[in-house]
Amino acid sequence: MKKVSRREFLRTTGQAGAAVAASGALGRFAIGQAAGPTRVEIDSDRVIAPVSHELFGSFLEQLGRAIYEGIYEPGSKFADKNEFRTDVMKEVRELGVPIVRYPGGNFVSGYHWLDGVGPKDKRPTVLDRAWNTIETNQFGTNEFITWAREVGTEPLFGLNFGTAGAEDAAALVEYCNVPGGTKWSELRKSHGYAEPHNVKFWCVGNEMDGPWQIGHLEAHEYGLKATDAAKQMRAVDPTIKLIACGSSGPFMPTYIEWDRTVLEQCYDVVDGISLHRYWGNTEETNHDSQIYVAMNLAMDRQIKEISDVCDVVRAHKRSDKQLFLSFDEWNVWYRARGGDATDGHRTQAPHLLEEPYNLEDALLVGGLANSLMRHSDRVKVACLAQLVNVIAPIMTNENGILRNTIYYPYAWALKHGHGDVLDTLQMGPSYAVEKLGHPIEDVGLPAPGFGQVPYLDVVITRDKAAGTATVFVLNRDLEKSRELELVWHDLTPTRVVSFETLTGKDLKAVNTFADPNKVVPAKLDAPKAGSRMTVELPAGSHSVLTVAV
Ligand code: AHR
Repeated sequence: MKKVSRREFLRTTGQAGAAVAASGALGRFAIGQAAGPTRVEIDSDRVIAPVSHELFGSFLEQLGRAIYEGIYEPGSKFADKNEFRTDVMKEVRELGVPIVRYPGGNFVSGYHWLDGVGPKDKRPTVLDRAWNTIETNQFGTNEFITWAREVGTEPLFGLNFGTAGAEDAAALVEYCNVPGGTKWSELRKSHGYAEPHNVKFWCVGNEMDGPWQIGHLEAHEYGLKATDAAKQMRAVDPTIKLIACGSSGPFMPTYIEWDRTVLEQCYDVVDGISLHRYWGNTEETNHDSQIYVAMNLAMDRQIKEISDVCDVVRAHKRSDKQLFLSFDEWNVWYRARGGDATDGHRTQAPHLLEEPYNLEDALLVGGLANSLMRHSDRVKVACLAQLVNVIAPIMTNENGILRNTIYYPYAWALKHGHGDVLDTLQMGPSYAVEKLGHPIEDVGLPAPGFGQVPYLDVVITRDKAAGTATVFVLNRDLEKSRELELVWHDLTPTRVVSFETLTGKDLKAVNTFADPNKVVPAKLDAPKAGSRMTVELPAGSHSVLTVAV
């Protein structure tokens, strides 16, 4: 294959619209022949955007065993002086999770933060009406901040817009961020926290478009409420970043219209808008794994659609401000939709939403991480939902922790997803996914497919400071290995630092406490480093290649 000169490459990719038959969501991907390698042309001058520090955050909801038995467990052999599980703290610290959303989720829409601060023996035990469980409030705002600081993560606070609103939200900002001298800041100090918590990111409500949400609102009602609250919160602390509550996803009949109506009201006073989505190998994918591993393209599409809505409202308002997107709930979740609290016996910390993840789920999570990175120009915050026990990469029992399959692609994104995401030109074989099943059947709308889907989903980051570049590749071909040809135009890899893959014969294999290493990364033979490199990716795999450049 002819090597394209640097000048020629920049010229061609600069005219991508004409030169490239895009596969819709992917942008610069040219549909090539049915077989043969996928070729990726790389030029470090072509940058989509730097990976935001908050791109691979996570989420801990006061739900099931996420907090209680997950990160906080009095009496556990792992508990420290604060009753935090040290084994989980070590894991989260090592992962390097940059931001954690808390305390919900649906839970937050009925939560009174005052119940969870102050002396523990004075805190009320309440009935959590979102998940129908018992909440003792032994863990609350200050415990979360203490835990977050200890594991080196930043808090992203959710606010109650169901049973509460502006007054409560502004009070919590004051409690957390004002140094002292006012009612709520002095209360914090009286609770033993002399210094302000300085919480920067705030979610202005959770899924308020959903009829399942406590205090569910119509879009214009939420828009007004959010605008008022945002103004009051900013009066308390003008430096905070506010994320408006976007649509719960494309399955909602009000998808897009909700976002547009809300933003028409609160655009000027917020900084970003939230997106949520969970995937599964369900009727939507016709239970077909070949379709399932293409579903990260639905994330690309959702990001594009919500960016477009933001920009339409921006144009309408002639605003010079561009909103960022906060994909603050994303994951695979389709099996454990309920749990043992739904059978009429309310307990504290029941086993809720404990999804057993298999290999194909992990492949999709790798693809979803790729989708987030290639939209780094717009997605500035994102949270894998969730972190421990509840739809999570990490599980706990009394003897320790288990890494679910999805732990590995998430860990790789955290470890290697740094620096700039490069805007590469790609060409290679693909397969057709013309139609999806019926995720949107409530809406009565067709579910569009993706057209031609590339077998290899490739994202490349370049970390100037570390002197490395990393290639993240999902091989969607579940039958055959596929070749990837990397053509480096201005950087020359001098050494392969690491090349690992997550793959296996059984797409349905899961890790369990009894058998924790069924799905774990394996090393691949390092290719020869150089300006043209060819690597082979195993069938049905997610791989990460890091080179020194
Ligand atoms: O993450 C589990 C739940 O999913 C959250 O509470 C809610 O926001 C979403 O519907």
